Amino acid sequence: MNKNRTPMIAGNWKMHLNVKEAGELALALKKGLDPDLKHEVLVAPAFTNLWAVNAALSGSKILLSSQDVHWEEKGAFTGAVSPAQVRDAGCTHAIIGHSERRKIFLETDGIINKKLKAAVKYGLTPVLCIGETLEEREAQSTYRVLETQLAGAFAGLKPGEVSKVVIAYEPVWAIGTGKTATPEQAQDAHLFVRRQLEKLYGKNYAGGVRILYGGSVKADNIDSLMAQPDIDGALVGGESLKADKFLRVIHFQEVLKAG
Ligand code: 13P
Repeated sequence: MNKNRTPMIAGNWKMHLNVKEAGELALALKKGLDPDLKHEVLVAPAFTNLWAVNAALSGSKILLSSQDVHWEEKGAFTGAVSPAQVRDAGCTHAIIGHSERRKIFLETDGIINKKLKAAVKYGLTPVLCIGETLEEREAQSTYRVLETQLAGAFAGLKPGEVSKVVIAYEPVWAIGTGKTATPEQAQDAHLFVRRQLEKLYGKNYAGGVRILYGGSVKADNIDSLMAQPDIDGALVGGESLKADKFLRVIHFQEVLKAG
């Protein structure tokens, strides 16, 4: 981490938990949170649980995010949820372009670009996910994939519109596999992402953007990840469903870098 950027720890609860369970998890996090914590904490429950989690989090500093968002405000889009609706349910953030949406729901960079623009327009802070597959990494295409995903997502967005965007680098091969990127691999990708942002929007902008790492983040590996200078936080899946483990991730320890 870098002291100039406020760290963010985010939990992506994916398609887990019913209303009661999500509310209980939110309450446990609220109770266990260090009141003096300086960094940002975000949870992203399923759409059906947003309202209950919002109520449970009332009075706490924990922020609420949707896991996705549609690009239109309203209309005949069966199954979709609009940015205005997720704001109304209490969200300040929206995850966009998660690799599961790209792979399973065939979301393209063009769709992600529309969603990013819509989120910005309706005052939601996007948490934009990017990352390469194992095949792409083995074919030495990681940088090219990240460059393409970033350029596609940000196409047509002006610097003033992207000021609040958070990026999550999530190598697909590390998601849900227990195979975390090493802190050095993650740092290397994060630095590359920051350099791309610098090319797109300049040094000042790039230096202020939070880049989170996601992919098998656990209570026992968060500290070494956070010791890297360009890792500004984490987007956590499985480990964010267990209050005690996620609280340990949230309250990561700043360890000194080896060497
Ligand atoms: P896991 O932490 O379960 O690997 O999931 C990561 C992720 O996809 C967060 O968005």
